[in-house]
Amino acid sequence: MAFPITRMRRLRVNEVMRRMVRENKLTVDDLIYPLFVTNGENVINPVASMPGIAQMSVDNILKECKEIVELGIPAVLLFGIPAYKDEIGSSAYDDEEAVQRAIRAIKKEYPDLLVIPDLCMCEYTSHGHCGILDEKGNVINDETLKVLAKIALSYARAGADMVAPSDMMDGRVGAIREALDTNGFENIPIMSYSAKYASAYYGPFRDVAESAPQFGDRRGYQMDPANGDEAIRETRLDVEEGADIIMVKPALAYMDIMYRLKQEFKMPLAAYNVSGEYSMIKAASQNGWIDEKRVVLETLTGMKRAGADIIITYHAKDVAKWLKEDK
Ligand code: PBG
Ligand code: ZN
Repeated sequence: MAFPITRMRRLRVNEVMRRMVRENKLTVDDLIYPLFVTNGENVINPVASMPGIAQMSVDNILKECKEIVELGIPAVLLFGIPAYKDEIGSSAYDDEEAVQRAIRAIKKEYPDLLVIPDLCMCEYTSHGHCGILDEKGNVINDETLKVLAKIALSYARAGADMVAPSDMMDGRVGAIREALDTNGFENIPIMSYSAKYASAYYGPFRDVAESAPQFGDRRGYQMDPANGDEAIRETRLDVEEGADIIMVKPALAYMDIMYRLKQEFKMPLAAYNVSGEYSMIKAASQNGWIDEKRVVLETLTGMKRAGADIIITYHAKDVAKWLKEDK
């Protein structure tokens, strides 16, 4: 039925009416907040390119978790800044390293907060790549799988609620699933960075995680930003290997991929609202050029509309506060 019988504006007449017909709703339950764990005590190292974000030692991570729990955010994603790095990333599976100690400490103090370690080697290798290198500097896929499985077990032993592999090796979900299952951790889910693109939006993250590659780039393992069909193939492999949650990363420039993966798989889908997306909004709002709260809420609601169930975001604490004050 066309105009004048149908008038779309009738249901936009006031906030109560709009609320009643609203299709998508961002809630605190959707959020995962990333944390950067370093060694030492009473350490807080802020990073210039990500206002509000800092590396923290375990004692300060616990204080941060208190606030996160009070805000009702259900989960944290952990990244590590290790005490040592080598060619084979062995600090990643050191049970006494920062991430492992943080997992144990958080689970002891806040058992209901989900602790999800990001599982990759780039923060732990001297060369900054996400795997073991051959003599030419290429990442050797199948050798890397063995290390990833070892890291997964170390995190599981520490008490992780879930692991999140972000390396983009072929077969990694299967290798990690098998390692977990054969060691009594069959109930630990895998949130796979299933469609992870080689993106310039990771720049600020590499400052805070100290994980920039020392030579070359990650285009030999992360996806080409021009590809959409490939994201479906990549994700299908992860699903067949046992991924419990799939992911699109970055988020903003890849909303079409979110939509397609949700339609195709009908599985729990996470969107990673990455560092560069965060820093752009922070910079513009610090300059007074945009309304930070409205832009963030609109952006994250857009991700929900595109199909995301879960949003990993550095804005999580702010969003939790805003959603509370709007109630
Ligand atoms: C590590 C990893 C990266 C991010 C999450 N896990 C960086 C990379 O692949 O270089 C990026 C997160 C962000 O930019 O916020 N593999
Ligand atoms: Zn990596």
